[in-house]
Amino acid sequence: MPRVPVKIVGWDEIVEWSRGLAEKVESSGYTPDVIVAVARGGYVPARLLCDFLDVNDLLSVQSQHWVEAARAAEKAILKYPYKVDLSGKKVLLVDDIVDTGETLLLARDYIAREWRPESVRIAVLQWISSVAKFEPDYYHLEVKDWTWFQYPWTRLEDLQQFIARMLREDEELKTMSLIPLGLLEEKFVEWYGVRPGDFGSYWPLALRRLEMKGVIRREPGGIRKTL
Ligand code: ADE
Repeated sequence: MPRVPVKIVGWDEIVEWSRGLAEKVESSGYTPDVIVAVARGGYVPARLLCDFLDVNDLLSVQSQHWVEAARAAEKAILKYPYKVDLSGKKVLLVDDIVDTGETLLLARDYIAREWRPESVRIAVLQWISSVAKFEPDYYHLEVKDWTWFQYPWTRLEDLQQFIARMLREDEELKTMSLIPLGLLEEKFVEWYGVRPGDFGSYWPLALRRLEMKGVIRREPGGIRKTL
């Protein structure tokens, strides 16, 4: 078992899942006037839902986790709160996944309170039912065992975080200064259950980005940690 189970999700699956999600919304009889994407994960599914549900109006709110420096407690915040009048409108709030669900609940409450629509319902591609605080109105897939879904829009961001975390936390890598690329790749499979090769050209891009950020230095024999 990998330490962090990862499943790589392809673009075709995203389209298929979004179509499946749209079918659930449609067959429930709910006809949204406005779709609101939760930035950033909800953007692609929300745009696809606009297409599948024939909805023109697409807005977004950015809801994210804020780590309180002093207490290390995580709280969801709305990053750029603004006001619009949605009275009489039916809203569909869209995100990629309900994990704990905190960011979505915050967005829903804000929209209901400040934008005053007729109704707000939540639609997501995936719902991790074992950890989520609530069940969304619509979901395409229920997930029972927590997994990190590596969506196509965060390949580079996730890869950098995967590698950086391994360098920080792996007992063997922690003690090494020059890490051969072969070992880094082996460790990656151990940690995440997927192979660097599964990420295609994103793998060298991630190493380059980590070097640009000053986290590693690439050398002929491998990589060297710089921090
Ligand atoms: N965002 C929050 N939880 C996630 C998960 N389990 N997989 C992918 N993206 C997420």
